[in-house]
Amino acid sequence: MKKILHIISSPRGAESNSTQLGNTIIEKIKKEDPQSKVTVNNVLEKDYEPLQAIHVTAYRLPEDHHSLEHKQALRDSDTAVSELFDADVLVVSVPLYNFAIPAALKGWIDHIVRPGKTFSYQTGKPEGLLKGKKVYLAIASNGVYTDGPMKSMDYAEPYLRFILGFIGLTDITTYRIEGAGIPGVMETAVQKGLESVLA
Ligand SMILES: Cc1cc2nc3c(=O)[nH]c(=O)nc-3n(C[C@H](O)[C@H](O)[C@H](O)COP(=O)(O)O)c2cc1C
Repeated sequence: MKKILHIISSPRGAESNSTQLGNTIIEKIKKEDPQSKVTVNNVLEKDYEPLQAIHVTAYRLPEDHHSLEHKQALRDSDTAVSELFDADVLVVSVPLYNFAIPAALKGWIDHIVRPGKTFSYQTGKPEGLLKGKKVYLAIASNGVYTDGPMKSMDYAEPYLRFILGFIGLTDITTYRIEGAGIPGVMETAVQKGLESVLA
């Protein structure tokens, strides 16, 4: 039985290519392991607060020094971090926005990358504290970035691979629905992307 955490960051509901791609990845996992359980975190609905001074202070303080105010400020972060530790598989659905990730997804990242919780410098060099989990990125874009002249313009996948790796999530596979805005490619882009998962 796999515990799957699906991070959704498109506002487009059932129309969203990245969400559909993520759902297809999850269907495939469930076919292989029907008892698997899915937790959805829609980061737009969650609306993580941009980090304020109280978060920054609380992140750096040992837990036994946290005031009630610190604890309250950390509530969403603590939930997001424990959802991650609880999951065996993380599926991150990502619409490409301005060659990078949506602000709402960055909001979630700012709440899960925490010293002493998800990474540590205790040994002198950074160590990710989330171990042994599988990650799938489901990226949707109007352009094509796996090949061709735009290849170097995708800052979403390299950043996600780096920051998730930084907290220990290094086993990452990417699927894409790409070219959904390019005539001649767009007609089959969704089908091709979804089929790449099932292949
Ligand atoms: C604000 C905004 C910025 C976008 N920027 C890019 C971009 O830089 N490159 C690209 O290929 N597509 C871009 N797109 C198109 C989206 O990546 C595309 O519509 C994708 O399907 C969105 O994911 P979704 O279907 O899951 O919502 C942008 C769309 C929006 C709304």
